[in-house]
Amino acid sequence: IKPDYDRMSVYAADYVINRINEHNKRYDRPFVLGLPTGSSPIGMYRELVKAVSEGRVSFRNVVTFNMDEYVGLPEEHSESYHSFMHRHLFDHIDCPKENIHILNGNADDLMKECADYEKAIESYGGIDLFVGGIGPDGHIAFNEPYSSFSSRTRIKTLTKDTRIANSRFFGGNPDDVPQCALTVGVATVMDAREVLILCNGHNKARALYAAVEGPICQAWTISALQNHPRGVIVCDENATDEL
Ligand code: GLP
Repeated sequence: IKPDYDRMSVYAADYVINRINEHNKRYDRPFVLGLPTGSSPIGMYRELVKAVSEGRVSFRNVVTFNMDEYVGLPEEHSESYHSFMHRHLFDHIDCPKENIHILNGNADDLMKECADYEKAIESYGGIDLFVGGIGPDGHIAFNEPYSSFSSRTRIKTLTKDTRIANSRFFGGNPDDVPQCALTVGVATVMDAREVLILCNGHNKARALYAAVEGPICQAWTISALQNHPRGVIVCDENATDEL
């Protein structure tokens, strides 16, 4: 628990930096990093960009897999997760283009796109560290409430709650938020050797309560983290209001 958003972000960035640097000392294979979008990780991305510019870390030996992407939203739309990731991270760091993986929500065959994504993760030997956010209803990536804990990358219809929550990025109208997304599954996230979840603000307090004090239950997909041997939640004080 960190006092505020900025200190949560610094902690998360340092965590990622240390993992990459430790990994590079021991292994030649790339470090495989799962990444989220949303407002929660923006501060962490700011810190990572700073660290790259100061030479404290390099992404040259890092392969990334993003969690999710809207279906049918053009890549160049400012709220696509492609645009988000380039704006906040990839345009400012030294990660080789071919190392960056983001689901294509405009693929002709969306099922194949999802199956290929799983195969690509597997081809790198799995994900070393998956960083995630958490929705107010406890979703991770776009694994809405009652998503199966054994789910894999797939197409998911977004709940009205999520479209309302994300409408702030689409001029305030939930009807302008895409209805579906491609998302890694709960099992895809939980298969990572380590999972780091960011959770800030009072509107996440019930989700944090469900995540750490509630039962393990598919109604709150984040509660799956309780079974992960190396699952960490870093949060601010406001998110702990219901603990
Ligand atoms: C979206 C994303 C999630 C993210 C959640 C919370 O639904 N698909 O990955 O965790 O929003 O977003 P925010 O961090 O903006 O609260």
